[in-house]
Amino acid sequence: MAKPHRKLLLFAFLAPIFAFPVLADDPPWIARGRSGMVASDSPAASRIGADVLRAGGNAFDAAVATSLALAVARPQSTGLGGGGFLVAYVAQERRFVVLDFRETAPAAATPQRYAALHRAKGDGPSPSVYGGNAVGVPGQLAGLTGILKRFGAKPLGELTAPAIGLAESGFVVDESYRRACEEALKDFDKWPQLKQQHLRLYATLLGNGTPPEVGEKIKRPDLARALRLIAERGPDAFYDGPIGQAIVTAAQEAGGTLTPDDLRSYRIREREPIRARFGEYEIVSMPPPSSGGVCIAETVHILQSTAIRSDLHPVHDYPHALVEAMKHAFADRARWLGDSDFADIPLDRLTSLSYAAERARRIHSGKTLEAGEYGSPESPPEDGGTSHFCVADRFGNVVALTETINGPFGSLVVAEPFGIILNNQMDDFLTVPGQANLYGLRQSRANLVGPGKRPLSSMSPTIVLKDGRPVLALGASGGPRIITAVLQVMLNVIKLDMPLDQAMSAVRIHHQWQPDEVYFDRDPPAALVASLKAAGHKISDERKGAAVQAIRFLPDGTMLGASDPRKGGRPAGLR
Ligand code: DON
Repeated sequence: MAKPHRKLLLFAFLAPIFAFPVLADDPPWIARGRSGMVASDSPAASRIGADVLRAGGNAFDAAVATSLALAVARPQSTGLGGGGFLVAYVAQERRFVVLDFRETAPAAATPQRYAALHRAKGDGPSPSVYGGNAVGVPGQLAGLTGILKRFGAKPLGELTAPAIGLAESGFVVDESYRRACEEALKDFDKWPQLKQQHLRLYATLLGNGTPPEVGEKIKRPDLARALRLIAERGPDAFYDGPIGQAIVTAAQEAGGTLTPDDLRSYRIREREPIRARFGEYEIVSMPPPSSGGVCIAETVHILQSTAIRSDLHPVHDYPHALVEAMKHAFADRARWLGDSDFADIPLDRLTSLSYAAERARRIHSGKTLEAGEYGSPESPPEDGGTSHFCVADRFGNVVALTETINGPFGSLVVAEPFGIILNNQMDDFLTVPGQANLYGLRQSRANLVGPGKRPLSSMSPTIVLKDGRPVLALGASGGPRIITAVLQVMLNVIKLDMPLDQAMSAVRIHHQWQPDEVYFDRDPPAALVASLKAAGHKISDERKGAAVQAIRFLPDGTMLGASDPRKGGRPAGLR
């Protein structure tokens, strides 16, 4: 009898812990294609992207159309008032391209300004979360037009048309949108002044205080107007034209400092990807100002080192080793990471195998460490709404693109009469030394707010290669849980050989070093909790997840698209 494959044995053991039962047919959030695939977190946006592929566009054209449709259909997560990151495989050039269109801090955004704003805020919401001071200079449109100029084949006008149509006919409210409205309205209850300050958003997208019903259609004629101007005049309508003027006015009336110059001087950046090795796989991911690639590289390298240790059981100790590796990576995120254009970041060291091997030596079965012993101890810590989609085309191009306005509905500030919701990305900076941000993340002065800087991000668009060919593209939304969700879906596929649907639906673990607790996205199996508790981990009762979108490339040429069932997206494939 043939010897069973070791990895399959491993998976069989882990399956009851991590995965739902195997489904006979593909669930509705999985699609198969052979000549193209779009996996986004909105069914309408995936369809629009797939239509572009069908009409002869390449993955970059489809990515632009998908993103513009998301701006309409996912206003709680993304849009022209935000920014993002692209990691893509360009088939013709046989290379990766990484574009950073993250927001930048306005010229007047000094640490002193934010310190004073925080002192003056009293019981009100954080000034880096709501209002004009939460707004960074949006990079989204510069990113999309930059992608199109370099790699696209279709004109911007053609790719904007479907989004205009969607804005005029209305996007359909789903569970995920309704939940986001409920969440946002909790803050309106807590701080009643928000209603007066952000009446436009409250009265339209937030249903005047009553979350819209699932199935209801919401039209966005104001955003359609902006999209039409962009289609006619290009990005200048935004960065040096009437839309920009409306953005500046909205941000300033909401107390911010954004100026026409801030918009005019916005530039996208091309960056070198972070590369990591995991067995026969190469992982290509986002460098700073994202922490995603660094944390993923550090974690998989640590796991690789622990895998060869005889004192750690490959199955029983896996969840513990995974959590410990996450803690090392997030401790280093807190201490070292920020915008590499401004801070000196020891990237080579943090992503090296030898550094990971040193951290791995501190992982012991059944035991955790003191908080200060995670990551690199040399520098003590200072006192310290997102959407992801993947596109693949028949030419071999692969796009992984994550975009964000940060919190649900960003800063709540809307640039009228264009319906553009402005981001609250300023909260991703360290604005008050010693205080954690919206996501509970501790950060060092490497990520201190400052003019022109890009705030540290967790967005992790990632492509995994085997023998030089893409085998998996993925990314997520969900703040710091992006990193751990991308990591686990990827490891479920490349380490545990899980089929994509199981890799996606399996329960997810999250640890971000501080707070020192293990989080789950939903109720975990009792055996998993017991094994982590026995190793000394504290377990949180909070349940919060990330939404992953992925494409798996099977050896027979099939493209398998998956939109996380946690957010209600649907992929769209081409035969
Ligand atoms: O860039 C970041 O890390 C955050 N602005 C991401 C926020 C996020 O994912 C919210 N999502 N659902």
